[in-house]
Amino acid sequence: MAAMTPFSTAFTQAVQFGLLTAVHLPDDPSPVPEQVLARLPEAEIEHARTLKGYRQVSFVGGRLALHETLGQLRMPNDPILCDDHGCPIMPEGMAGSISHKRTLAIALVARSRHGQLGVDLEDLNPERMGVASKVLRPEELAELQALPPERQWTSLLLRFSFKEAVYKVLNPQLRRYIDFQEARVHLDLDLTASVDLHLKDQEEGPFSLDGRYQWMEGRVLTMVRIRPDAHSGAPLNGNKGRLKGSSEAP
Ligand SMILES: CC(C)(COP(=O)(O)OP(=O)(O)OC[C@H]1O[C@@H](n2cnc3c(N)ncnc32)[C@H](O)[C@@H]1OP(=O)(O)O)[C@@H](O)C(=O)NCCC(=O)NCCS
Repeated sequence: MAAMTPFSTAFTQAVQFGLLTAVHLPDDPSPVPEQVLARLPEAEIEHARTLKGYRQVSFVGGRLALHETLGQLRMPNDPILCDDHGCPIMPEGMAGSISHKRTLAIALVARSRHGQLGVDLEDLNPERMGVASKVLRPEELAELQALPPERQWTSLLLRFSFKEAVYKVLNPQLRRYIDFQEARVHLDLDLTASVDLHLKDQEEGPFSLDGRYQWMEGRVLTMVRIRPDAHSGAPLNGNKGRLKGSSEAP
């Protein structure tokens, strides 16, 4: 495959929850070149200079993806710093989320009137079935074990990724650590998912969470949205409720 230009845009794509941009990252922890840093607002450059190695590379890649997406939505190139939990502080009226893996950074952005967003990117390899009992609730584990062995890893990875995306969308609301056991993910065959929350404090919520996933080369991308009617407890949308058990996927 031809070498990708580091920090160039891999693609921008409209997806159901908003606009998604991916940026190529160099598989190299060297300092980010000055001409690349110069594409960011000054406050982000200052923050990037405090970071080392791959952390600097991924931060810059995520911000480039975020600004590319915001630019497509005609938003100004204002700095986007993080709150004290690490969540990007989006411009008024906008929702957004970032994820990065070694050679790719992604950002998902939409108007916040459509809901808040969480996104996660995971590599398909290597398989790490050993995390199942930590990541999955007992009923999810039982469903996983009922699947043919060749489907178990992708099912576990998808659930793991969805839970990371859930964390990104819920942590800014709850302002606390959320354990993997506090979410139960239902996967559907049509690249959608829903999430039931089992929050430790029942007074937190209810929240309506809606999920989408897509396969990329060697990776899976998951997206979660809290609907603006988050506290109503209403169904996520008109035609999709909780999963109907038998069509669990993959
Ligand atoms: C915070 C966490 C979800 C980040 O995921 P990750 O796979 O390590 O890293 P990713 O590359 O996918 O995402 C990193 C980006 O997430 C965003 N992020 C970090 N903390 C965040 C938070 N509290 N809220 C929202 N977004 C956050 C940031 O944009 C960050 O990139 P940046 O620092 O360059 O801006 C993860 O490290 C974590 O703590 N997970 C354990 C908790 C959990 O997932 N529980 C499951 C609940 S059901």
